[in-house]
This record gives sequence, structure tokens and C-alpha cells, in this order.
Amino acid sequence: MRILITGSNGLLGQKITAMCMAKKLEFLATSSGLNRFSVCPKERYQTLDITDEQNIQEVINQYKPTHLIHTAAMTNVDHCELHPEACDLVNRQSVQMLVKYCILNQIHFQLLSTDFVFDGQDGPYREEDQTKPLSVYARSKVEAENIVQQAKGLSYSIVRTIIVYGKGENLSRSNLILWVKSALEKQEPMQIIDDQFRAPTWANDLAWACLRICQLNESGIFHISGPETFSIYEIVKRIAAYYKLPLNNVKKLSSQELQQPAKRPPRTGFILDKARIRLGYDPKTLEQTLSEL
Ligand SMILES: NC(=O)c1ccc[n+]([C@@H]2O[C@H](COP(=O)([O-])OP(=O)(O)OC[C@H]3O[C@@H](n4cnc5c(N)ncnc54)[C@H](OP(=O)(O)O)[C@@H]3O)[C@@H](O)[C@H]2O)c1
Repeated sequence: MRILITGSNGLLGQKITAMCMAKKLEFLATSSGLNRFSVCPKERYQTLDITDEQNIQEVINQYKPTHLIHTAAMTNVDHCELHPEACDLVNRQSVQMLVKYCILNQIHFQLLSTDFVFDGQDGPYREEDQTKPLSVYARSKVEAENIVQQAKGLSYSIVRTIIVYGKGENLSRSNLILWVKSALEKQEPMQIIDDQFRAPTWANDLAWACLRICQLNESGIFHISGPETFSIYEIVKRIAAYYKLPLNNVKKLSSQELQQPAKRPPRTGFILDKARIRLGYDPKTLEQTLSEL
């Protein structure tokens, strides 16, 4: 197995890179710009801008991967809403180009997708449930999924996940759990919604599942998240309780009051039966991971 990772400077990309090193798997880590993850040796990193077709062709022809794990994306949902053309380029058109070279070179293509493909009216969701995106970001991911599923002669997997968290190095953006922990420690005022429900996912568990799918030659859609679904406010309460931090500066509010540019699904969460049975996936609870942050 020779694994090409896109977005290796991102949170999930770093965890997959570190796991490949620990498991002594053959890999090439790529991201836009310079390597920002010190654990990744120089010779295992190459710059790859996934919106540049020539760059894609060169890197694939040179490295000759058997598997491509595609974590790179425009992941800020509100930024996507305000910049739909850029979002389309990074999240949909790049997938179209990568898929083309994966078919030509018989490379297994793994797409990272999201719980936001659903409208959140009747979560938790199974893999085969009907998608109904509510935002520009969510539509770009549904369209990318469609490209992958409809591509003739492509070996593929789609890994949908939810609020990924963990510690990374030089990340271009933080994640919910780290941000909440830091704000609680500094006693900064926070406005937290209590009408959106999610199953936060430990980035190491997700990285493990991505590699496990490749190692077992699995294909199709997999739902990979944490084992418990709770409201964002409840997540904050549990973090505060774990670290024994006061909640005095946390104000509860509704999604309507918060008025974010992109619409979010109210209740997602995943049914994990397929991942548990086919992969042996056994995700950690929030409390089991907090000591490592
Ligand atoms: N994080 C979540 O809560 C969540 C939830 C559901 C699904 N997902 C999906 O899971 C995947 C991984 O998420 P993540 O949390 O690891 O995201 P992340 O930390 O934002 O990482 C994404 C990476 O993609 C890179 N990238 C962006 N544009 C690129 C381009 N044109 N060429 C090459 N690389 C580019 C970014 O580079 P820079 O660092 O230089 O900006 C960043 O390192 C994404 O596909 C995301 O949509 C994430």
C-alpha cells in the first residue's frame, strides 16, 4: 500500500500522517504550501495544490500511490457560504480532477465528507439515508460524493464525519473542543447554541478508521463519529465539568439568535453499526479523550 494524503497540514491530515509513521506504512503527505507538521520528515512531504490539475498529475505520476486519502477541503462553513465559487473549486472541482487521475492509475480514492450532507430533521443517520444539504459547503460535499459514486471504474470510499477535534500543530483553524477549553480557562464570554446536536469525533479515531478502510480494502460510504450525540451547550458543560472550570461566562442561545451565514442541520449524529461491524471501530467518548488535550 502506498498512500497519498492531501491536506496533511490540517488536523485529520496530521493524524493520518502520524499514524502512517507509527504503523510504518508507505505514504506521501501533501498540502498547499510548506510542511507545517514537524513529525513529517522532509522526504515524505510534497506541496500539492488540489486545485491545480497539472500539479495533481505530476505528484500522482511521480509517487504512484495505491490509495489517495483526500482530507483537503475548504472547511469553514460560513466562509464557503460567503465565497461559493472558491468553495466549489476546492471542494467539488478538485475532486473531479483527482478522481480522473485515480481512475487512470487504478488508485483507491477516499473522500472525507460530512454530517452536513443531511438536513438534521431526523438524525442520527445511517449511510444510506437521503442527503439534503442546507448550505454551500454541504452542497459542495454532496456534489463531490456524487462525482465519486458515479465515476465509472473507480474504487472508492466516502468517510462522513462530525465535528473533528484534537490537538494539531500550526493549524490554520482551531476546533470546537480546543476553543471551548481555552475560552473556559480564560473565563472569556461565550455564546453557545443549545438547539444543535452533534457527535464530536476524536481525530485519532477518525484517522484510524480512514486507514483501516484502506487496509481492509473496504469500499462505499462509512459513518465515522464519536459514540455520543449531544447539544453544543451540553458539550461545553461536559468540558467544564471535566476540567472543573466555571460556566459563569457561557450564555445559552438559539441558532436563530446566533444568525450565522450558513444554515446548519439541527440534529445529526450517526448510527455507527456498519463501522463497528466491518471495521471494528470503537470510538472514544469525549471524557476519554479530554486528558490528552
Ligand atoms: N473538522 C470538522 O469538524 C469536519 C467535520 C466534517 C467533515 N470534515 C471533513 O474532514 C476533512 C478534514 O477536516 P480537517 O478538520 O482536518 O480540516 P482542516 O484542519 O481545515 O484541514 C484542511 C486542510 O486542507 C488544506 N487545503 C485547503 N485548500 C487546499 C488546496 N487548494 N490544496 C491543498 N490543500 C488545501 C488546508 O490547508 P491550510 O492549512 O494551508 O489552510 C488544510 O490544511 C475535510 O474534508 C472536512 O470537510 C471535517
